[in-house]
Formats: sequence, C-alpha cells, structure tokens
Amino acid sequence: MRILLTGSSGWLGSALAPRLRSLGHEVIGLDPAPSVQTQVVGSVADRDLVMRTVADNGIEAIIHGGALHKPNIEHNRNEDFVETNVRGTLSLLDAAVAFGVQRFVFTSTTSLMISQAIRAGFTGGARRAAWLTEEMSPEPRNIYGVTKLSAEHLCRLYHIEHGLPVIVLRTARFFPEADDMAHAIEQSDANTKANELLFRRLTVEDAAEAHVAALEKVPQLGFDIFIVSAPTPFRPEDCEALIADAPSVVVRYFPDYPALYARKGWTMFSSIDRVYDASRARERLGFVCKTGFADVLAALAAEAT
Ligand SMILES: NC(=O)c1ccc[n+]([C@@H]2O[C@H](COP(=O)([O-])OP(=O)(O)OC[C@H]3O[C@@H](n4cnc5c(N)ncnc54)[C@H](O)[C@@H]3O)[C@@H](O)[C@H]2O)c1
Repeated sequence: MRILLTGSSGWLGSALAPRLRSLGHEVIGLDPAPSVQTQVVGSVADRDLVMRTVADNGIEAIIHGGALHKPNIEHNRNEDFVETNVRGTLSLLDAAVAFGVQRFVFTSTTSLMISQAIRAGFTGGARRAAWLTEEMSPEPRNIYGVTKLSAEHLCRLYHIEHGLPVIVLRTARFFPEADDMAHAIEQSDANTKANELLFRRLTVEDAAEAHVAALEKVPQLGFDIFIVSAPTPFRPEDCEALIADAPSVVVRYFPDYPALYARKGWTMFSSIDRVYDASRARERLGFVCKTGFADVLAALAAEAT
C-alpha cells in the first residue's frame, strides 16, 4: 500500500515507518522536521501541500501521527495547537475524501480522558482510581486534549458524512524521556516506566504495532476508537485500594514483585489514580501489547539469577 505517514520524524514515526516498509508498504513521510523517514518536509496544516502529496503519490492510506503534543504546551500558543491538530487533521480528512483514500488511522491520546479532577487524584480527594474505557465522556484539561478530542470528532464526522473508514488510537504514554510527575523524582526512569506499564504505558514498538493492526482492520471496522496501553492486571473492583495503597494491590497479582524490586532499589507508586482498560482493542481490533509488567519482572528475575 502507498501510505502517507505524518509525524514521520518523531519518536513514533521513526519506529513505525521502518516497520511499515518491512511489511512491503511504500511510506511517504510528512513532517516539518527533516529526517531519513521524511520525504515531504512540511506541515499538515498546509492544505495545498497535503492535497498535492495525497494526489501526486496515489496515497491509499493515511496514518496521522503528526501533532503538537503535551511537551509543546509550554512553547506554543493555543492557536498553534488548533492549527496543527485540528486544521491539520481536517486537511488530511478532506484530502482522503477528495482522492478516494480508504484507510485512515489517527493517533490520539489517553491524555484527553484526564480531567482536572482525575489528575488531582488522591491528594485532590479522589476515593478511587478512575477506570477508563472508551465509554467515558472526556473532559480534557488542556489545549492538547481539547484539540485531539476535536480531531477525533472530525474523524467521526467524516466517517458519518463520507463513509471514510477511520480508526482512532488513543495511545497511552510511550515517550522515552523522564516523567513530569512528582513521584518520578524519587524513582529512576526505568522504575517509573515499569510501574506505569501496570496502568498507563506501552512500548513504542507496541504503539507502532497497534497502528499496523489498525491499518489492516479499518475497512472492516468502519469507525472505532481504541485505548491502546499495556494490558492491566487490575480490575474495576481494585480501584478503591489502588488509590489508597497501590502496593497492596500489586502484590496480590505479583507476589514476587517486592523482592525483585528490592534488589534494584525500586519502589512502587504509593497511589495509582487511573487505569486505562485496553480490552476493547483486544476484542474488536485483535490487538494486545506484547510487553507488560510481567515481562519487566521476568527480566528482573533473569538478571537476579
Ligand atoms: N509519546 C507519547 O507518549 C504519546 C502518548 C499519546 C499520544 N501520542 C501521540 O503520538 C503521536 C506521535 O507522538 P511522538 O511521541 O512520536 O511525538 P514526537 O514529538 O516525537 O513526534 C511528533 C512529530 O509530529 C511532527 N509535527 C509537529 N507539527 C506538525 C505538523 N504541523 N505537521 C506534521 N507533523 C508535525 C513533529 O515534527 C514530530 O516529528 C502524536 O500524535 C502524539 O500526540 C504520543
């Protein structure tokens, strides 16, 4: 397939473009930042460029990962977010409809489901962790979430009005850099990421693979939204204990974790404020992340022997 991949110079794009090529696809990367994965240096908000790129390359599928995201909030204006994330998505959807593209995959974010109240967590008075599925009505707390949710709505609208097959992937975090949250300060990066695999993280390889699965299934599914995160061991009935005393819950599922963590000097978060439930992706998309918390423990156990 001839695929237009936006955000091709970024972290996800750099993993996804080679993966798609290894499957035999022709990938045209579009990104304002040049890189080996990017053939068209420019913005999704440049409507003429987008139209030309789709038409001239006979594009059959669009994977739209390019965006301003959370780390950009500090240095960009709200209108920059609207321009890239909303107008940019609209240009791509219009180009898809104009030139008969039959597959559209949009990289969204679980972050848009996190309201101010959920983020405040235990210290904000929450009595239970939020159990998050695609059924909830998001109330995004920042311009990133607002523009991603708007872009999701545009995707849905283009499916309704034009029959464009679209899958929206609300991916959890897969960024490589250290967390911005307070508890990360006391923990090593590897420790933080391991903990997060329990409820809010996936590897970049799994993120790329979810896009491959979506690309394959989108004509069949028509329109759908999926949370993509490593499979959680937790259940909704754990939510009260998770926010009050997370280690007591984790040890029930993984009795060997305290000893393995102790060897590394690692600690568990004392409180877990949300859990992303990726079971819809498993059931309808047939996609499950390969790497989860159990794999980290297996690696720690192997190190110890
Ligand atoms: N990294 C995460 O943890 C995470 C979590 C959830 C969702 N996401 C989403 O995944 C996607 C990829 O994120 P990433 O982690 O690879 O980030 P990244 O910053 O490494 O990559 C984003 C890419 O988008 C490009 N971009 C910015 N403005 C653009 C424009 N106007 N037109 C085209 N491309 C543009 C950037 O130049 C960059 O190369 C984004 O849509 C992001 O919102 C990321």
